[in-house]
Amino acid sequence: MLLMDRDLWVENLTVESQKHPLGIDVVTPRLSWWIQTEQHHILQTAYHVIVTDDDGTEVWNTEKVKSDQSLWIDYQGTPLQSRKRYDWKVKVWDNQGRESDWSQLASWEMGLLKQEDWLASWIEPEQQEAVEEDFITIKEIFSGGLKAESLEERAKNLRPPQLLRRPFTAEKRVKKARVYVTSHGIYQLELNGRRVGDIEFAPDFTAYDVHLQYQTYDVTPYIHNGDNVLGVIVADGWYTGRIQLTGHSCQYGNKLGLLLQLEMEYEDGTIEIVTSDENFVSSPGPWQYADLFIGEKYDARLEQEAWSCSNFVASGWSEVNCVNYSFENLTAQYGPSVKAMEELLPCDIHMEEDGSQIIDFGQTIAGRIQMSINVPRGTTICMEHSEVLDQDGKFFMNIMGRNKDQIDVYIAKGNGMETYEPSFTYHGFRYVRVTGHPHNIRKTDVKAIVLYSDMETTGHFKCSDGRVNQLQHNIQWSQKTNMLSIPTDCPQREKAGWTGDLQVFAPTAAFNMDVDSFLTRWLVDVRLEQFPDGQIANFVPTGKYYEPESAANGGELSSAGWGDAIIIVPWVLYERYGDKRILEENFEAMTKWMSYVRQKAETGIPDHLEDRDPIRLERQKYLWNTGFHFGDWLIPSIKNPMESAIRTKELVATCFYANSTLLLAEISKVLGKPEMESMYKDLNSQIRKAFEEEYVDDKGRISSHFQGIYILALQMNMVSEQKRSLVVNQLVELIKENGYKLDTGFLSIPYLMDVLCEEGQADLAYRLLYQTECPSWLYEVEKGATTIWESWSAISPDGTVGHMSFNHYAFGCIGDWLYRHIAGIKHDQPGYKTSIIEPHTDCGLTFAKAKLKTGYGILSSSWLKKNHTVQLEIEVPANTTATVILPPNADITGDWDGLTYTGDGKVKFVVGSGIHQIEYAEKCVLNSK
Ligand code: BGC
Repeated sequence: MLLMDRDLWVENLTVESQKHPLGIDVVTPRLSWWIQTEQHHILQTAYHVIVTDDDGTEVWNTEKVKSDQSLWIDYQGTPLQSRKRYDWKVKVWDNQGRESDWSQLASWEMGLLKQEDWLASWIEPEQQEAVEEDFITIKEIFSGGLKAESLEERAKNLRPPQLLRRPFTAEKRVKKARVYVTSHGIYQLELNGRRVGDIEFAPDFTAYDVHLQYQTYDVTPYIHNGDNVLGVIVADGWYTGRIQLTGHSCQYGNKLGLLLQLEMEYEDGTIEIVTSDENFVSSPGPWQYADLFIGEKYDARLEQEAWSCSNFVASGWSEVNCVNYSFENLTAQYGPSVKAMEELLPCDIHMEEDGSQIIDFGQTIAGRIQMSINVPRGTTICMEHSEVLDQDGKFFMNIMGRNKDQIDVYIAKGNGMETYEPSFTYHGFRYVRVTGHPHNIRKTDVKAIVLYSDMETTGHFKCSDGRVNQLQHNIQWSQKTNMLSIPTDCPQREKAGWTGDLQVFAPTAAFNMDVDSFLTRWLVDVRLEQFPDGQIANFVPTGKYYEPESAANGGELSSAGWGDAIIIVPWVLYERYGDKRILEENFEAMTKWMSYVRQKAETGIPDHLEDRDPIRLERQKYLWNTGFHFGDWLIPSIKNPMESAIRTKELVATCFYANSTLLLAEISKVLGKPEMESMYKDLNSQIRKAFEEEYVDDKGRISSHFQGIYILALQMNMVSEQKRSLVVNQLVELIKENGYKLDTGFLSIPYLMDVLCEEGQADLAYRLLYQTECPSWLYEVEKGATTIWESWSAISPDGTVGHMSFNHYAFGCIGDWLYRHIAGIKHDQPGYKTSIIEPHTDCGLTFAKAKLKTGYGILSSSWLKKNHTVQLEIEVPANTTATVILPPNADITGDWDGLTYTGDGKVKFVVGSGIHQIEYAEKCVLNSK
């Protein structure tokens, strides 16, 4: 027998890519681990996993399995049971014949797997029903159809969050206690006066009618022998509050409700269960109202001290109603919850002439402020939030629309120092205007609390140009602050899960943070909310006004490039995380979407097509050229967004039709469905052929003559080899005519840089990268951006500040290219089982480095250029290999195994795991162009 090798160990054990998850309901959870070693070129050759339940019974013992798989191993032991905790450990063998020691124990715990596990009843506190806002369409909002009602007037329709309490007795010493809880609305849980956990906005935003998560809390340390009290505060949140662009309320219901089950296991093994039932009582608390968009109003004078403690007398509290709601939509929490993730201190506080104080946090965020206040009783302090100041440095409300106030109001109780932080709202802001505060606010009195879903930062990118680093910073901040419960377009005006925005940004997102379980959860809603005819909504969760709003808007429920998220996003997750189940889970929804698109293409003939030439008519069925689409949304040179939609939609839709068929062919292949693979491939070639015939002339000019259309056509292979270079020339000309500035919208921009680099126009790509005139990434940076803006000219060159979102991640999709092209980290096999390291040191920088935490471990590439010598350091995780690709004729020092040259002269070799230092001289190559 071999001795255990201390230099080979296993760590970072995860279940469903989460560490020690509590209360999951995945019945076949997947286990993954990292292998660590000082040795180079290490691959796993076998593993052994043992899982035991909380009685110590072995429920799965794989014995030694010959396999190099260390990611996403399906649990295959005895069926998992509700409430049980499972501990697991793993050991591995490597390609040097070494055997590791057992890893440390990791664990997961199951939630309530069956509906019968729920003994609790839904309860509703005494409350006025939430008021439904008048129906209004997006058009009406933007054509000035909004009633101008002050916040005070509208506040009459807002109602207070409710406090719910229930005393209970723990007869004996508690060994283990769990609370399973969810709500209609968002809630916070307390036990004996202490807040339980640090989750914000539970139960997260999902398509509540069909998918409502419950959370599991370990409350063992909160319970004492004898009298205890459960307390829950429930507020409107997404369930009844005013949400999305139109600010409609009551999208899921008009009453707050609670479902809760506390299970205590005493030390003697007996179980006691306390549930939400008629023993709860409720009362409004100090919150006058709390709305995710409007803000909250908190009257500290109405606080009921120690209301969730046992000596509190709940006089005047109301009885609650037990109500019947189906339990069918309940699932356990999957993936990260929202938390207070960071804090920022103000960088400036100044007073305006009217006496209001403006606090600048130096960074655009999503979150809220926490302020310490020492003022007389009844002092009313008002906090307004905005992302930008106007041209003259004055406070400027950049967001318009219905119920977009972002104003918090605090009424002081006035007995010394008090601290206020809103609980049931968040805002998109950098600046806060405070009025009604009688003193000068000191920098130490206030901080900004940054909220987002608790995901690990996995990627870092840095280079020798500070402006590009600021760009990367802006991308990361737009990502963090828009990944709040769902992937949102912006944290102020809409907070909505626009599918198109996410689709373009997903590859970047998967570099910066571990978004796998976060997006997996959101995809559940995307497919649950798929329409019966296969359409995928433009934003998810949709809510009850989605269809009427769409009807008023032309009737389409989906758009090309938005609906395609159902194919693109799972594909990105598969590629970046190696997660195959995401493809399986979404496959049916993908094919339904594709059938919808196909049917649209086959049956729709554009009105303008007067030409009845049968050949032309025949090819129409491969063109998705009817209906409304957002097109290459927000092309900078077209001032009216709808106009950019109309002028590009036919071609954009057809490109996406082709792209999705090809992806679906790939996905079918991965899932072992060869007939579907070839069916989609054939369809893809028909679409491409029809596109070229219909839209591309002999000079390579495309009928919708915009940069974005050329980019999509090239990226999605819509033109034949013969015409390709002509099409490239057209694109290059357009960029030159535009003063070396981009003119691309949401859907084409993710491919802009890659297309140029692929087509031998890398210099042009670099010129766009370093461009500082509007529109460009560095224009925003030079205008002081701290996040990515919705529109390049949100601050126009003459300084005019627009009523725009200053925090939309879509145009930040260049981040993916910075990692992949500049630093040169690319996945090869899914999940980076094999990767490609191909840095581009000709990009005008003197150094660049990127580091990525993959499912296998750290993968990094860091290069430094001195004269014409490049020092490249790479780190490759154990159990993976990387192919290093260097520029043509790189004169490389040292011996590298298997060094070969690619067709275009690039130097190529494969390295195993470990840190490698590579040095090469860039040889001068004569360029004949
Ligand atoms: C959102 C977007 C979204 C778009 C659809 C906007 O209001 O903010 O980011 O994709 O509508 O065109």
